[in-house]
Amino acid sequence: MADLSSHQQNLSLHQHTGGQLDRLCQAFAFAETTGNTDQLLSGLLGPAGESSILEPPIWASNVSDDTTPVEFSVAFDATGGRAIRVLGESVGIGRSREFLDAIADRYQLATERFDAVQDLFLPHDERRGPFTLWYSLIFRSGAPPKIKIYLNPQVSGPTLADSLVSEGLQRLNIADAFDPMVMHALTRGDKDNFSFFALDLDNDPLARLKVYVSHEDANSADAERAARLVPGIDPMRIREFCAILGGGTEVYQDRPLVSSYSFVEGGSGRPGNYSLYLPIRGYVPDDEVARARVLAIMAQYDIDGTELDRALAAVSTRSLRDGRGLIAHVSLRLGEFGSGITVYLSSEAYRVLPPRTRPMLGVLQEYGRSSESVH
Ligand code: TRP
Repeated sequence: MADLSSHQQNLSLHQHTGGQLDRLCQAFAFAETTGNTDQLLSGLLGPAGESSILEPPIWASNVSDDTTPVEFSVAFDATGGRAIRVLGESVGIGRSREFLDAIADRYQLATERFDAVQDLFLPHDERRGPFTLWYSLIFRSGAPPKIKIYLNPQVSGPTLADSLVSEGLQRLNIADAFDPMVMHALTRGDKDNFSFFALDLDNDPLARLKVYVSHEDANSADAERAARLVPGIDPMRIREFCAILGGGTEVYQDRPLVSSYSFVEGGSGRPGNYSLYLPIRGYVPDDEVARARVLAIMAQYDIDGTELDRALAAVSTRSLRDGRGLIAHVSLRLGEFGSGITVYLSSEAYRVLPPRTRPMLGVLQEYGRSSESVH
């Protein structure tokens, strides 16, 4: 492929992503968790982890644009805490629960919530749609790893998505959560869709359920309306976040804005948190511009920008100008369960998305063309 980065070596998928994760953990002084992190990553990848990143992938995962079945993120809590996370998909194995069942005892995972809804989201026939089950591995310094799973409300087709979510909420004893979400976040017909149903698998009584809604062709006001469902959130935070990261984008047409609500099982049905995910890679010419915007939003929340640079350096050594999507999404989390910014970083194991022309260069090139035609 023409756009393979020049430093790409013949590593296995596990070696490539494991090196990135290891460097991320070191960059944030998470050294004590390293043994667990690599073991979990390798288990999550399964046999596909042994394949060379120079060979075409066996399954085109939707976790990332270049089909790498892994995406990293660094969560910067407003209170100073940091989490390093790996979103991943087990590819090329028969049963999608295999990884979960293999680690459930060792990490004392509470699988009851998943057991209660799995028949809704894991259909018996072959896998359909872009995904059936994704995992998130969540590492914090000095704490045991946590695991989250993501299920797909669209797994049985778009017409069944609402009823899967509604039935799932009912089984988790928060049936009351459904209608308010629809009224705040699914107001634009086919353009607003349930996209993920996520469960914390830890034993904590406050383990969360998160429901995600994707908003096609939305603007900041649509996200502000969605955020208003959570009591106490200042919608101006959402507007400012979009203004800084969207860089003048009015309608998010390239890739959808995504909202999520967090609930506690058996709670009131009112979400405690709202998050907005902005797929910044669709709205920048390259990662150098993305970085500048992320630094601006981090400054707004008093988060040290050098932490972003450490995270970027851990994942990639390519020049930020040479591609787009190393910074894939940025999210803002607001509410009683804790606020903060999360930056999602692509592994780029297989491919780097090419940069787009910067607006000013485009203007100069157009000017060059038209002046040529005059002569
Ligand atoms: N790659 C998919 C997308 O961009 C799924 C995904 C990965 C995602 N990380 C995400 C979606 C973070 C929202 C937020 O849609």
